Amino acid sequence: MSRYRLERSATGLRLADGFSRQHPLEIDFGAPSFAHRLERGGGRREQLARAASARPGQRLIDCTAGLGRDGFLMASLGCEVTMIERSTVVAQLLFDALLRAKSHPELAETAQRITLLTGDARCILPALPVPDVIIVDPMFPARRKRAMVKGEMQLLQRFLGTDEDAAVLVQTAINTGCPRVVLKRPLHSGDDRLPPPSYSLRGTAVRYDVYVGGPG
Ligand SMILES: C[S@@+](CC[C@H](N)C(=O)[O-])C[C@H]1O[C@@H](n2cnc3c(N)ncnc32)[C@H](O)[C@@H]1O
Repeated sequence: MSRYRLERSATGLRLADGFSRQHPLEIDFGAPSFAHRLERGGGRREQLARAASARPGQRLIDCTAGLGRDGFLMASLGCEVTMIERSTVVAQLLFDALLRAKSHPELAETAQRITLLTGDARCILPALPVPDVIIVDPMFPARRKRAMVKGEMQLLQRFLGTDEDAAVLVQTAINTGCPRVVLKRPLHSGDDRLPPPSYSLRGTAVRYDVYVGGPG
């Protein structure tokens, strides 16, 4: 029997880890904790919103969709969001959650602004029209125990491991000529393979490195 199973619960598709007592992972954009995050100024006060300079009608690509929370938050601010996810299992969870959100009275409008693509963003990005913003939030290795991820993200990290090729993805995003590329990363991490950002926004646990550039 394999360790991980995709199962259908009464509410939606979920990923269970047979080696852990942890609750299976199910994406729910209507969950109270997430609704609270959306309500807090519609996410406008979120550092990600500031780093992305989010505004209605902006075309944004989220290259590392994962549980879809960052992308959904940006869509709630009026951005037209394309999410890209390379894990077919995670993409199925996300597709299922987006489908449910589309028939939820309070989430439908936001969910309609999201398109989900499955595949590796390093290959897909160069084939898409250049957006206004690209966001990248890879799985970085936890350097210290204190910086370890929690909750649902912990199950996701066990399942997927770390994204060792993140520097190539960031460079691919910069090479598209997109005027704003935002990289979310642990507060004190560094990577010699990445160019220095134009500026950074620092939170309590994460940091947003912003690359402002564009054609020329
Ligand atoms: C840390 S999670 C992202 C969490 C997400 N920001 C959220 O709010 O839920 C990273 C995700 O990016 C995906 N990923 C990493 N590199 C990718 C790539 N090159 N193309 C597409 N997806 C990628 C991983 O499979 C994983 O699901």
